[in-house]
Amino acid sequence: MQTYDLIIKKRDGHELEPEEIEFLISGYVQGKIPEYQMAALVMAIYFQGMGKEETVALTRALVNSGETIDLSGIKGTKIDKHSTGGVGDKVSLVLIPLLASLGFKASKMSGRGLGHTGGTVDKLEGIPGFRTDLNKKEFIDQVNRVGAAMIGQTGNLAPGDKKLYGLRDVTGTVDSIPLIASSIMSKKIAGGAENIILDVKFGKGAFMQEIDKARFLAETMVEIGKGMGRKVRAILSSMEQPLGRAVGNNIEVIEAINCLKGEGPEDLREVVISLAQAAFQLEHTDENREKTREKIEAEWKKGKPWDKFQEIVQAQGGNLPPEFPLATEFNFKADRTGFVFGLDARLIGRCSVVLGAGRKTKEEEIDHEVGIYLRKKIGERVQKGDVLASIYARDQQIFQQAEPLLQKAWLIEKEKPEIGQLIGDTIY
Ligand code: URA
Repeated sequence: MQTYDLIIKKRDGHELEPEEIEFLISGYVQGKIPEYQMAALVMAIYFQGMGKEETVALTRALVNSGETIDLSGIKGTKIDKHSTGGVGDKVSLVLIPLLASLGFKASKMSGRGLGHTGGTVDKLEGIPGFRTDLNKKEFIDQVNRVGAAMIGQTGNLAPGDKKLYGLRDVTGTVDSIPLIASSIMSKKIAGGAENIILDVKFGKGAFMQEIDKARFLAETMVEIGKGMGRKVRAILSSMEQPLGRAVGNNIEVIEAINCLKGEGPEDLREVVISLAQAAFQLEHTDENREKTREKIEAEWKKGKPWDKFQEIVQAQGGNLPPEFPLATEFNFKADRTGFVFGLDARLIGRCSVVLGAGRKTKEEEIDHEVGIYLRKKIGERVQKGDVLASIYARDQQIFQQAEPLLQKAWLIEKEKPEIGQLIGDTIY
């Protein structure tokens, strides 16, 4: 087999065979195939796309490139969840305890923030003492005992994806649906996931801004799951504006705790409920969604998700403080009267990075105490001088650096906007 011939084959729009894909990925990981040939190949994939079988074969090759985690020691209905990334996306902090309180075994391996989007591990590390680095045995024991554990990525999972992602990042080939889908699914499958629920975001703050592209990404990931013998369901949810009102780290944990206690915000609660419904439907495709909702809401009313969250925190060595510290509060005010017509999630995410809540480089430390609290969201009425957002920043100078982004993020118009859909289809 010659790499050159396989590049030409893909360039000319033909499908690669599974053994050819395995040859390419293993050769690349072992350093036998140089970066420039792999760059040409991913560009060919970018333009020609990949068929269903090719995408499954690519995922399998990425899984085979490193360690895999065996979660067969976890007894019961295992469930894992993944989000394609968003702003103010604290869904896992609420959903995982909820699923555990409903009897699932929720094993969650999360990432750190990426670009303008936040990461669950960063948020959890704001809880004093909370360990996100449980070893495999501790992880499995805790899921069996408590019903859930939330940790960072462990082991050398899908190193082929890590290398390929680095190459895609600098060659303009990140935005390819088969490459994104195989990248995400390879890490989930290498991490031992059997039943997977996916939260695929669409809208301004999402990877896939158009809902049709997000749907295609969701369908591709579901197909990969099926092709590899996993049960997968995906929901589409809006990232047109940030989810909830809090964006940052500590501030998102505070909002998640309020939601766990049953206090909203409503959009966060709705996304969590849709994903929990999808989890029930994984087991029984004909599960009645309304009945499931009643079951979920009843559990929530009894305070079970909040109890479970505290149990998880304690099991992972954390101590919930009476109050989470936040940096100095500055007010960002409206310069006109009207309705919030748009609130750009991507700009708010970038603003949170300027404040220090996210990383500009991989090595950077994040600041848990800075962030944004959105006081006006799409559809809400605003008077000139009203506070649009409370900004928690280290000093006035940093607040001023964030201001140009904030000014662009809100669109205020005279007429009231139509509110776009929060939850799209469920894909299975
Ligand atoms: N997230 C991933 O893990 N991989 C991609 O390719 C894009 C987003």
